[in-house]
Amino acid sequence: MSETQDQEQTVKVNMDYDLDTPITSKVGLRQGLASYGDPHFSLFLRKVFIKALGYSEDALSRPIIGIVNTYSSFNPCHANIPQLIDGVKRGVQLNGGLAIDFPTISIAESFSSPTSMYLRNLMSMDTEEMISAQPCDAVVLIGGCDKTTPAQLMGGISANKPILHLVSGPMMPGSHRGVRIGACTDCRNNWAKYRAGTIDIEDISSINDELAPTSGTCGVMGTASTMACVLVGLGMMPFAGASAPAVSSARLRIAEETGKHAVAATKQLEKLRPQAVLTRESFLNAITVLQAIGGSTNAVVHLMAIVGRHPKIAGTIDLDTVDEIGRKTPLVVDLKPSGDNYMTDFHNSGGMLALFHEIKSLLFLDAMTVTGHTIGEEIARQSYVAVPRELSVIQPFDKPLYPVSSLVVLRGNLAPGGAVMKASASKYRHLLKHSGRAVVFSNSADMAERIDDPNLDVTPDSVLVLQNIGLVGNPGMPEAGLIPIPRKIASEGVLDMLRLSDGRMSGTAGGTIGLHISPEAADPKSVLGIIRDGDIITCDAEARVLRVELSDEEIQERIKVRAQQVQEQKAPWEARKRIRGYRGLYMRTVNQAQFGGDFDFLTAAGPEEENAS
Ligand code: FES
Repeated sequence: MSETQDQEQTVKVNMDYDLDTPITSKVGLRQGLASYGDPHFSLFLRKVFIKALGYSEDALSRPIIGIVNTYSSFNPCHANIPQLIDGVKRGVQLNGGLAIDFPTISIAESFSSPTSMYLRNLMSMDTEEMISAQPCDAVVLIGGCDKTTPAQLMGGISANKPILHLVSGPMMPGSHRGVRIGACTDCRNNWAKYRAGTIDIEDISSINDELAPTSGTCGVMGTASTMACVLVGLGMMPFAGASAPAVSSARLRIAEETGKHAVAATKQLEKLRPQAVLTRESFLNAITVLQAIGGSTNAVVHLMAIVGRHPKIAGTIDLDTVDEIGRKTPLVVDLKPSGDNYMTDFHNSGGMLALFHEIKSLLFLDAMTVTGHTIGEEIARQSYVAVPRELSVIQPFDKPLYPVSSLVVLRGNLAPGGAVMKASASKYRHLLKHSGRAVVFSNSADMAERIDDPNLDVTPDSVLVLQNIGLVGNPGMPEAGLIPIPRKIASEGVLDMLRLSDGRMSGTAGGTIGLHISPEAADPKSVLGIIRDGDIITCDAEARVLRVELSDEEIQERIKVRAQQVQEQKAPWEARKRIRGYRGLYMRTVNQAQFGGDFDFLTAAGPEEENAS
């Protein structure tokens, strides 16, 4: 038989259909077959349908790289995803793989009601199940907006196929009256000025046009940028991936490079599964990055959820780990909201590679990355020319922007499960050690109704307390923790007060603000839930204390009374047992902020016994 005849024979007689040869392969198209009770038929049928798309047997024999497409017209942070998919496909196909993109849900901050956090776990389930269900040898996860990257990593760890992250990248800053502005620190700063009457409606209208002048994620060290840097710290994304602008050609080259790495990952499947790449040291590196960049408080919640997905790491890292690492990590990146600059400045200063050179002494250099090299090897093999100090927004290690503990974890009778504060973003540092009378709002609606009441009994020394914006109390834990300064006080020029809640705050916001108080106020056992106007609250960030000056007896007495009310009034904690749909699933199974707000049944440990039936 001639060579040509031999090839023709190979095409005509496909051994995939040989009934005497069992299908044992766990890679390519043969993995994860749909169940028809006959694996050969399942593979036969799979090929019938994928050939409808024009694929050849040659294409179908390649490693399959799934590309998760989170494009949505409701998500301007992801507007460049079609171009990124093209870039990844180019990288995959130039390196011998077959790239197949598929959608999952997309979450954009301001288009997600009640909050994007409410949908994060849904997106993680979608990601996990679609990665698991479809025949991908490795997967490129394209995300960007705040909740998308943590959701993708949570799902990716649980699915445990090799994953590589690619973010859409930060937007460019805009300009107003000659001053650079950008989403979304300047959204909040300018809105506060408008509320205080220092800028007028004309100004705020034209500012609105300039805050997000291009596609991409918020251009400051908000949650999206923080999570992008954290992904590099974890080793899950190439270094340049964190900061290249969404609209740059560099971003497209990173997409191509990610496709190349994805194909390479299929040759080291066991080594590069996320549960193998991610070690305790990876997480310690990521937390070091978080502290060094003055990252978003939201990242703490996400990291706790991500840790909880990893069977070997869960339980070994908690809020105290975040605090301990903070005590030895200086804040060296001068970006809003802790500093003055934008993500494009960070990128132009050398981005994550430059940061790693600055904080190298704090990193575990043997931690693995998705390229198959360790962090130390990656630092060593990438050419690096330091940007002159005066042009860089990365401060010297020994002359940091903030000495240590950008993010602190507070504990005390008011937050036995912990609370998080971004101390470096405090506008009045004296408030980091402060006692004052509580002014309590029982929920967001109550706050909205009374905060600007001229008769509100409040002074700049008061402590503003907002209850019931936690994970269950206000499903989705809204970013309402940035309680506005009451207008009568703001109009005196006061920019900051001590503010406390069980909610979250945008990573782009700043102030002396204690967040994620656990247990949340909706929990009948919560001390936050029994605080009343006039109670004296003490916060001492240096000593890591958050306390209400009440006796234990008084606290227990109030908790007893309140537990009764929760039952009688069918408050959310009680009512959640009978709520239908995703909302019911969310409310019954979401865990507290100190554990990341994940659904208990999605964690590596699974549900607690009482929820397991
Ligand atoms: Fe998407 Fe800020 S709104 S990153």
